[in-house]
Amino acid sequence: AATPTRDDKFSFGLWTMGWQARDPFGDATRGPLDPVEAVHRLAEAGAWGISFHDDDLVPFGSSDADRDAIIEKFRGALAETGLVVPMATTNTFTHPVFKDGAFTASERDVRRYALRKIMRNIDLAASLGASTYVFWGGREGAETDAAKDVRDALSRYREGIDLLAQYVFDQGYDLRFAIEPKPNEPRGDILLPTIGHALAFIGSLEHADMVGLNPEVGHEQMAGLSFVHGIAQALWHDKLFHIDLNGQHGPKYDQDLVFGHGDVKSAFFLVDLLENGGPDGGAAYTGPRHFDYKPYRTDDADDVWESVAANMRTYLLLKERAQAWRADPDVQEALQAARSPELALPTLADGETWRDLRADSASFEDFDVDAAAARGKHYTRLDQLAVEHLLGAR
Ligand code: GCO
Ligand code: MN
Ligand code: MN
Ligand code: MN
Repeated sequence: AATPTRDDKFSFGLWTMGWQARDPFGDATRGPLDPVEAVHRLAEAGAWGISFHDDDLVPFGSSDADRDAIIEKFRGALAETGLVVPMATTNTFTHPVFKDGAFTASERDVRRYALRKIMRNIDLAASLGASTYVFWGGREGAETDAAKDVRDALSRYREGIDLLAQYVFDQGYDLRFAIEPKPNEPRGDILLPTIGHALAFIGSLEHADMVGLNPEVGHEQMAGLSFVHGIAQALWHDKLFHIDLNGQHGPKYDQDLVFGHGDVKSAFFLVDLLENGGPDGGAAYTGPRHFDYKPYRTDDADDVWESVAANMRTYLLLKERAQAWRADPDVQEALQAARSPELALPTLADGETWRDLRADSASFEDFDVDAAAARGKHYTRLDQLAVEHLLGAR
């Protein structure tokens, strides 16, 4: 059951296993990976999809003829393997022209160039059948608060996303947008730093209905936040359009670890939410299980494929554990003892108003505050049951 199949909908960014492991302090430790080989090896590994930035597939500055040839070969590999392209995105961060942002660069000509670069890759994404287009604004931000008026920057961000949404609409593409929050790195402070900031921004857009989120595990954890709570809120707003699964050890540089190789307990509850948190215990999220991680810089070219397999295997093992946890009568009993299911009941009865509540002496005058305050919730027991399932002890 821990062997991935296409039905599991696992997808990988071409830039993940293709990462040559250049970091701010050191050169590449691995050679380049041919996208055609990536497609074949992902399919062999049991993955279902591949995503890419424009420049991952077609090197920046390629001629139109070279670009067409690369895309044709890529299409051929997809057709041969049956691998799909569920998502694509734009690199608006590597080239020095984007050093001060793309949507929110102070220079208007840079912003116009960025929009054209994005439009060109949206055309490609649509032609490859992608249904989600991701926006990760890695360079949209600043190191100093003196640099720009953040309100203007947000207006330009909104202008850009609105324009591209209109473009998708007018072209008749079947694409939705997903914004990926991140608090910092590479900028000192990045705009739309968390799920919450991005949700509020989306609410201000002209085509808010076609824009959702692509939250990444490590990014919320870099901000010290609960990823599980963030995902639950995104689901609650119907905005979980896509997800970037990986691992992170708390607030430090972006580690992009293999899924589950960071906070494994949070990963357990995340998989439980995604797979069992829907109505009647079904899946709460049915989109791609997309991995955005970086193989260790110390891994060689073969190790990289072990890390690809590790992401999927860890996810499936956690899915098994989460199912066993839900099915365990001791867990159900502990949840009942904590009165957890009661949270699903509305606080007022059907038709009740604040007047009825104010007249209800049982809710206040006769309420035994001390007895309610003294009730134990037994969450330690519940938590330990989760850890024991996670460790395979039950
Ligand atoms: C990160 C980001 C990026 C984006 C990707 C999509 O780790 O900082 O996840 O990897 O997801 O570039 O644009
Ligand atoms: Mn990351
Ligand atoms: Mn990501
Ligand atoms: Mn990443």
